[in-house]
Amino acid sequence: MADIIDGRAIARQLDEKTKAQVDEMIAAGMTRPGLVVILVGEDGASQVYVRRKIKACEKVGINSIEHRLPADTSQEDLLALIDKLNKDPEVHGILCQVPLPEHIDTRLVLRSISPEKDVDGFHPVNVGRLSTGTGGIVPCTPLGVMILLQSVIDDFVGKDAVVIGKSNIVGKPVANLLLDAECTVTVTHIYTHGLPEIARKADIIVAAAGAPELVKGDWVKPGAVIIDVGITRIMGDDGKEKLVGDVAFDECQHAKAITPVPGGVGPMTIACLLANTVQAAKALQSNGARDDHYHDAPSRSMFTKAATNA
Ligand code: GUN
Repeated sequence: MADIIDGRAIARQLDEKTKAQVDEMIAAGMTRPGLVVILVGEDGASQVYVRRKIKACEKVGINSIEHRLPADTSQEDLLALIDKLNKDPEVHGILCQVPLPEHIDTRLVLRSISPEKDVDGFHPVNVGRLSTGTGGIVPCTPLGVMILLQSVIDDFVGKDAVVIGKSNIVGKPVANLLLDAECTVTVTHIYTHGLPEIARKADIIVAAAGAPELVKGDWVKPGAVIIDVGITRIMGDDGKEKLVGDVAFDECQHAKAITPVPGGVGPMTIACLLANTVQAAKALQSNGARDDHYHDAPSRSMFTKAATNA
């Protein structure tokens, strides 16, 4: 039987570390980390996500402020709010929940958030820093994927990793992080020819294609580690709705370790958001030592060769 990678437990451990960092900051006379979450409109799923993020802040001692704006908010007003938050010394993280209403240019809005406060890691400056291995804020889900992998893999060097899915928010950044950790990385997607054969060679499979139960048991080499980022609501045989990942979980018990859905990657995303907010708050309060912060960011150095060999 494969070991189950317990995302809830690992997220709790990360939250404890994050809370300890907040306590240290307060003891050192620093400003308490502050996260602003902006929600435009009434999208039901977004409301649930935002509520979870705000509630999670409380647990670790991060100040959270929610800005709920009506669906007809103008782009100009949203940009003006972000500009004000960029300049507010009490705000260290700004998250604008997507999707945004159609009349708003999402890319423009995400670019308007200061890269130092971009706790989602979506700003092109942070994307560029990630892809050149020069630090920056790492997007939450990819960071969570790496922490889960690290819980079962001692040495990443030379491992064959296959990433299934090429999205900007998961597939591409995960591939960059795995490369930084000295893996040999193959990035694939649902149109890749011979995907089962490619997957079968992998020591590490990260499935993030958004395709329910795409990865079958015979795609998986015995002893591989599988991280399942997918989460889709489907109708079960019993007529009840259920959540499934991108991996046929029951068929993959010959893996070394596998994440469940739910309870795998999901809980890590919010824990990493909190960790990113504290990282940003520390960097913003350390006398403009922005570059040092970026280069020394624990979230990155954890996966480099030096760190894994230490
Ligand atoms: N919508 C769904 N997930 C996310 C996320 O991680 N960040 C933002 N900003 N919006 C989202």
